[in-house]
Amino acid sequence: MKAYRAAILSFSGAGAEVQAHWQDDGLLVTGIKNQDPTREVILAVGDYQTVMNQWAARQLPPLRIEDIEHLPGKILAPGFVDMHSHFPQMDVIGSPATGLLPWLENYTFPQEMKFQDPTHAASVAEVFLDEMLGNGVTTALTFATAHKTSVDGLFEAAEKRHLRLITGLCLMDQNAPQGLRHETEQSLRETQSLIERWHGVDRLGYAITPRFVPTSSEAQLGGAGELAKQYPSTWIQSHVSENTDEIAWVKALYPTARSYLSVYDDVGLLRERAVYAHCIHFDTDDRALMKDRDTAAAICPTSNLFLGSGYFDYAAAENHGFMFGLGSDVGGGTSFSPFKTMLGAFYVAQYQNSPGGNKPLYASTAQHLWWQHTAGAAKALGLEGVVGNLREGCEADFLVLDPHSTPLMARRTAQANNLEELLFAMIVLGDDRAVARTVTAKKPVKQP
Ligand code: GUN
Ligand code: ZN
Repeated sequence: MKAYRAAILSFSGAGAEVQAHWQDDGLLVTGIKNQDPTREVILAVGDYQTVMNQWAARQLPPLRIEDIEHLPGKILAPGFVDMHSHFPQMDVIGSPATGLLPWLENYTFPQEMKFQDPTHAASVAEVFLDEMLGNGVTTALTFATAHKTSVDGLFEAAEKRHLRLITGLCLMDQNAPQGLRHETEQSLRETQSLIERWHGVDRLGYAITPRFVPTSSEAQLGGAGELAKQYPSTWIQSHVSENTDEIAWVKALYPTARSYLSVYDDVGLLRERAVYAHCIHFDTDDRALMKDRDTAAAICPTSNLFLGSGYFDYAAAENHGFMFGLGSDVGGGTSFSPFKTMLGAFYVAQYQNSPGGNKPLYASTAQHLWWQHTAGAAKALGLEGVVGNLREGCEADFLVLDPHSTPLMARRTAQANNLEELLFAMIVLGDDRAVARTVTAKKPVKQP
C-alpha cells in the first residue's frame, strides 16, 4: 500500500457535460484489492482529511504517516490515454510531405520495412515506451508493422513493464511494397495466433489492425471482420476519411459503396471497441453510423495539421453523440506529448469557429480537452472505470504533474483564477517537463 498527498484532478460526466474535479489537499491511496490480487488499483481518493477519516472507519490496516508521500505544489492526475499511434513510426516524426499518400510511400513504408529485424523491433519498442511514459501516457492503442516480430517485440516490452497496451499486426495484402505485403490467408492466421498468444495476457490487449481500405483486399477485410466477430473482446483499429486523395482512391476501388466508412461496416468492422483514426471528411450518415455501431473516433490534430489532412468537426460529432478521444498519431503526428495534442485539438476547434467556418460554434474548454485524452479516451476504448481517471477501483496509473516545471509556467499558473484557467495554462505551456513522475500499476510479487 502507498499513499500520495497533493492536489488531485479527476473527471465525471461525458462529452459536453464533462466536469473536472479538484481537491486542493487530496490523498490517493493505492494497493492490492483482495478480490483481484493481480494488479494495483486505487483504494481510496479524495480530500485528505475525509479519506483519512473514512480510512480509519474501514477497519483496514492503518495508514501511517510514513506511508504517505507528501508532494506539496504538485498535482496528481490520471495517466493520459493515447488512442492512436504507430510505434514503428517514431523515427518518421517530422518528415514533411505534400499529403498522406506521398508521406506513406516516401517515408513511412521504408521505415516500417526495418521491423522485419526482431532486434530493431525490440529496441524501438523500448524507446517508444520510454517516450510514452516520459510524456505521461500510461495506456496506448498503437499500430505495429506487418511483421509478427514487431507485435511480439512491443508486447514483450510492455509486459515486462506491466503496462496497459493494445496493438496488432498491420494487415496489408495489396497496394503496399514487397516486404510489407502479406499473403491474405497467412495474415489472418498470424492475426489469430497473435490474439491467442497475447489478448488478455496481463494488461495487454489485441487490436485487429487492417491499415486502411486501399491496402487490404475485400478478402482480407472480410477475414478481419470474421475474426472481430469470433473474438468480441478484441479491439479493431484502422484509418478512415483522413485525406481527400485517399477518399478518391477508396471511391475508385468501391464505386458502389455508400461511403468510405460503410466499406468497413459491410464487412463487420464497425462495433464496440473499434477505433477509427481521423474521421475528418464524414457526412451525416457516416456520423449516424458511428453512433449506431458504438464505434469511436481517434482525433489526431497534430497529424492532421502537419499532413494538411483537414479539421475534425467537433460540433457535428457532439451532435450525433458518437464517442471520440485524442491520439498522437506518432509519426504523422508531431509529438508524444499529450499537452501538444490537446493544444492541437484546441486549434482545430477554434478554426471551426472562425468567421467563414460556416459551422455551429463549438465551445472547447480545457476540461473537455483534458477529458478527451484521459477518461473520455478510456470510455471510447471501452475501459471506463479501468484507466483514465482517479476513482476508487481504477488501475493505479497516474501522474505527478508540476505546474512550476518552467519559470514561465510557474508565473502563469500562479495567476490562474480557477481550475479552467489553470488547465488551459498547462495545456498551452506544458510538455514532458511538466510530468514530474509517471506511476503505473505494479504487478504484485507472488506470495510464497
Ligand atoms: N493511413 C494509412 N496508413 C496511415 C498511417 O500510417 N498514418 C496515417 N496518418 N494515416 C494512414
Ligand atoms: Zn495512424
